[in-house]
Amino acid sequence: MDKTNRGKLIAFEGIDGSGKTTQIGLLAGRFREMGITFYTTMEPTDSPIGSLIHQIMTGRMNADPKVIAALFVADRLDHLLNEVNGVVHKVEEGITVIMDRYYFSSYAYQSVDVPIDWLIQANAQSRSILRPAVHIFIDTDPEIAMERITQNRCDKELFEEKSRLARVREKYLECFERFGDSEQVVRIDGNRSPEEVAQDIWKAVQKYEIQNNQ
Ligand code: ADP
Ligand code: TYD
Repeated sequence: MDKTNRGKLIAFEGIDGSGKTTQIGLLAGRFREMGITFYTTMEPTDSPIGSLIHQIMTGRMNADPKVIAALFVADRLDHLLNEVNGVVHKVEEGITVIMDRYYFSSYAYQSVDVPIDWLIQANAQSRSILRPAVHIFIDTDPEIAMERITQNRCDKELFEEKSRLARVREKYLECFERFGDSEQVVRIDGNRSPEEVAQDIWKAVQKYEIQNNQ
């Protein structure tokens, strides 16, 4: 297929509770209204590899951080290349793909425990197979993100979680800086109403000429 007819990939990034799911829903609504053919998906996936990750994240299985990082790499490659619903096929068919998390999530979350150079190397295949037209980074204050997602939890847990999210946010910012112009990253202030955030995201998406390629 002619390269110009390929669909574009939009990757959403941000700490837990930053508003990604909400904003992906609002963007999908816009696309629907405009008749743009799109597909939304997320990482970790619900594939067998993604299920292993979910088991580890919910404490039903134990694994070393290096193993977890490698599982995210494998899940991501399967997400791209799977013959049934792989993202690469979708993009080649001219479909715009909206992804909830991509390789910057691995850089930001796993670099708390695993060296960043290893993570960049391990994700190099995915990055070379499919680089997003734009990474939308919803930058929400960890305290606000925590308030949005937590209920019925004790203070100590909340404090630990907040400081973990603050570290992850710092890691995101360091990684964006490190990649410079080789990645298109748009930082959106997520500490506002869903409508205000959505408006800025829509402006950013239009700038990257995401359109109907069908
Ligand atoms: P994420 O997918 O990044 O974890 P969500 O979109 O699921 O975030 O949002 C987490 C919670 O915060 C949800 O209950 C959602 O309704 C709420 N929320 C999302 N965006 C906003 C916003 N801009 N202002 C207030 N609450 C929000
Ligand atoms: P999820 O329940 O999807 O959370 P959210 O709605 O906030 O995205 O769980 C995803 C979790 O997995 C989230 O805490 C981030 C983490 N994660 C990584 O640590 N590395 C990765 O590469 C990816 C894709 C996610």
